Amino acid sequence: MTYETILVETFGAVTLITINRPKALNALNSQVCAELVRAFATFEADEAQGCAVLTGSGDKAFAAGADIKEMADKRAAEFFLADFFADWQSRLVKSTRKPWIAAVNGFALGGGCELAMMADFIIAADCAKFGQPEIKLGVAPGMGGSQRLTRAVGKAKAMEMCLTGRMMDAAEAERSGLVTRVVPLKELAEDALRTANLIASMPRMAAMVNKEMVNTAFETTLEQALVSERRLFQILTATQDKAEGMEAFIKKRPAVWQGR
Ligand code: CAA
Repeated sequence: MTYETILVETFGAVTLITINRPKALNALNSQVCAELVRAFATFEADEAQGCAVLTGSGDKAFAAGADIKEMADKRAAEFFLADFFADWQSRLVKSTRKPWIAAVNGFALGGGCELAMMADFIIAADCAKFGQPEIKLGVAPGMGGSQRLTRAVGKAKAMEMCLTGRMMDAAEAERSGLVTRVVPLKELAEDALRTANLIASMPRMAAMVNKEMVNTAFETTLEQALVSERRLFQILTATQDKAEGMEAFIKKRPAVWQGR
């Protein structure tokens, strides 16, 4: 599989995907979006892969947003008729059932912030900056920013950030619950890959189900989510890995997972 705007490497059971347009601060043009969809589909289909990490090349940006130069001449009808941002986003989020982490190494603005928030969680470098500055371009978030940011940090901060376009630094992002933790930039890749490797070493179906369960908390009522949680738990009890995990615990030996 060849790519021009992203790099894809595997480290054991972990896929590392790097957006690679550093001169444009990794802005998300349509080629990047299409290649990300392909790379995530390949990761999802590869049984040997258990977790992915998405990051940006260089030490300045994860992604500075949707590509403004590509959008500048497009008119409303083109955006509307193509349902701009719908297809690639739903394919990335809905079709990737395996866990993936965003390792944010600098600016995550507009679509970049939105892309990071599509991940299952975010690990941020100390230099990371998050924002939804679309208002300064005369528009508004279009890839989920107004919704996922509000769910992540609450109405007050999300509203202020969307209305003023101000950036949130890594420390504030951690305090606000937007990111899991902050690490020095030079340790970011290692930390994210180590975490991804740990997740990839877990029983595969249980990892996918845990991801689905936590995401359900954002998508439905508590009552429905609790039913869904119980049913998914009950389904997992039918797996070989459930039998192995519980037997290994009782016999005080390491479990050997089948991913089934
Ligand atoms: N699209 C296209 N090109 C971009 C870009 C973007 N989102 N962000 C940066 N670039 C380009 C710049 O045009 C510049 O290219 P040239 O060298 O050819 O001029 C290069 O990347 C470096 O950028 P700067 O010179 O601006 O770097 P800086 O350090 O002075 O500033 C920055 C960094 C504050 C991130 C600034 O680049 C910036 O404000 N970028 C735009 C951020 C933004 O508005 N993002 C939202 C986009 S809209 C969106 O994402 C819609 C949505 O909801 C999906």
